[in-house]
Amino acid sequence: MPLRSLSVLLLALLLGMAPAAAVDLQQGKEINGTCAACHGDNGQGGKKGEYPRIAGQQVRYIESQLKNFRSRTRINIPMFPYTQERELSDEDIKDVAAYLAGIALSNKMPTYTGTEDALTMLQMADKVMIIPRAEGDIEQGGALYQKQCAACHGKAGKGRGMFPMLVGQYTNYLKRQVDLYLKGDRPHDEEGVTGLLNKLDETQIRDILAYLTAIQEPTE
Ligand code: HEC
Ligand code: HEC
Repeated sequence: MPLRSLSVLLLALLLGMAPAAAVDLQQGKEINGTCAACHGDNGQGGKKGEYPRIAGQQVRYIESQLKNFRSRTRINIPMFPYTQERELSDEDIKDVAAYLAGIALSNKMPTYTGTEDALTMLQMADKVMIIPRAEGDIEQGGALYQKQCAACHGKAGKGRGMFPMLVGQYTNYLKRQVDLYLKGDRPHDEEGVTGLLNKLDETQIRDILAYLTAIQEPTE
């Protein structure tokens, strides 16, 4: 076989192998342009949790929720048009989920050196997200959380795989989701974890949410 066609063959093999699992982060960033209108440029959400934070969320969880919105198994009127089949293909979902999962928001105020220009300072502040302390008994909430929630959502509330990160998320948003679960409007888990939430009273839920705002650790 001539050397040239051998290298073409090799190149084809390499190309064929590499992109299969790869996600296109540039494409993900572009798609995020349409999401930013509500969720913010860095996926930090807004309006006190009317729009949830999606930056740094578990990638598999983001993917699964986008598919749920698309198929309307999770009802979200504002987002539906953005996720319909034509708008958001499976590949787009992978790209935008990977892009968003990769955005690290800090929960420490930035330390300016004094040499930054106004735009840089603005961009630094825009990547900070601190959830205000919510009212409740943190000790009580911590004990409940570690016993009943940590197995899936992680000891530090960061989530894992299909289990969402809860820490660093707006308290209002989390409370709204708990209420949706309790009403049966959103399935918490196939195994019927809703039952688990149903066994907690309002004070216990409040304490767990307060605890989550107390365990935000600096990411750097
Ligand atoms: C018109 C406003 C709007 C736009 C545009 C929008 N979203 Fe949303 N999104 C929402 C609202 C509101 C919720 C919360 C729904 C609820 O409370 O259940 C949400 C929820 C989500 C969630 C679930 C978060 C969680 O923790 O479960 C994800 C993921 C998400 N959006 C991703 C996206 C992506 C990706 C895009 C762009 C392709 C996008 N959204 C565009 C309004 C919007
Ligand atoms: C057996 C595993 C499991 C346990 C235990 C569990 N969860 Fe969950 N939780 C899930 C899964 C899975 C989801 C995502 C459900 C979906 O796909 O919509 C979720 C989602 C949530 C959400 C919504 C997050 C978002 O971004 O929209 C909240 C709030 C929540 N759980 C609170 C709790 C609390 C509080 C506890 C403890 C009392 C708890 N969970 C225990 C599996 C679990």
